[in-house]
Amino acid sequence: MRSLSVNLDHIATLREARKTSYPSITTAAGICEVAGADGITLHLREDRRHIKDRDLEIIRNITLLPLTLEMAPTEEMLEIATRNKPDAVTLVPERRMEITTEGGLDLTKDQKKILSIIQELKRQSIKVCLFLEPIIEQIKIAKELGADAVEIHTGKYAVLFDRFNPSKYQEELNHIKESVEYGVSIGLQMNAGHGIHYHNVRPLAKIPEISEFSIGHSIVSRSIFVGLERAIKEMAELIRNP
Ligand code: PXP
Repeated sequence: MRSLSVNLDHIATLREARKTSYPSITTAAGICEVAGADGITLHLREDRRHIKDRDLEIIRNITLLPLTLEMAPTEEMLEIATRNKPDAVTLVPERRMEITTEGGLDLTKDQKKILSIIQELKRQSIKVCLFLEPIIEQIKIAKELGADAVEIHTGKYAVLFDRFNPSKYQEELNHIKESVEYGVSIGLQMNAGHGIHYHNVRPLAKIPEISEFSIGHSIVSRSIFVGLERAIKEMAELIRNP
């Protein structure tokens, strides 16, 4: 069955807006379990703007769900992953000034560094996923570098969808579909994430080869109105029964 990993970064964003001790990320992690999420994702950014090192340590110790750590491919982050042993790592590019992750990794650059990080994580039995644009060449390199999975960046699709530009988002959806089919054909697990919400999720969820969805902002936003448990259940239903 396809899975939903709930990204809890924006529970921490709300907390950091006032530097308070609430809302509690541990309570959120517990609700993820109760609601039937398949995993929890945390992005420990280099600037620590939302998730902190302590959040990662605590969630690692309390959750029964598979934990994915999103991180930049740096030595500092590798050391943190080594210490905390998440079930999976998703390598993402990071730019300090960006509001959120703005694109996939470019595997035609920095291959040596990314390869050494992939090898070290795999040596520790941590599953490695690379966050990439829906570009066949990038996915091919991901396989050559030994990644277990690729998460397709759906951010561009999401922006086109919100601007209600049907021909443009359909074009991007086709790129996503072709990329996912190609990835599966060469033995990669194919995931999708970024900018996915309750309306744009349906066309993506109809692509049967997508194994996992990584979704955060829209779920946390909806939880303000309906509660976190219901927000997770509603998204899980959409991805399982589009
Ligand atoms: N996947 C990746 C690689 C991300 O960087 C993010 C944002 O941290 C997400 C998924 C979740 O995106 P959103 O919060 O827009 O659902």
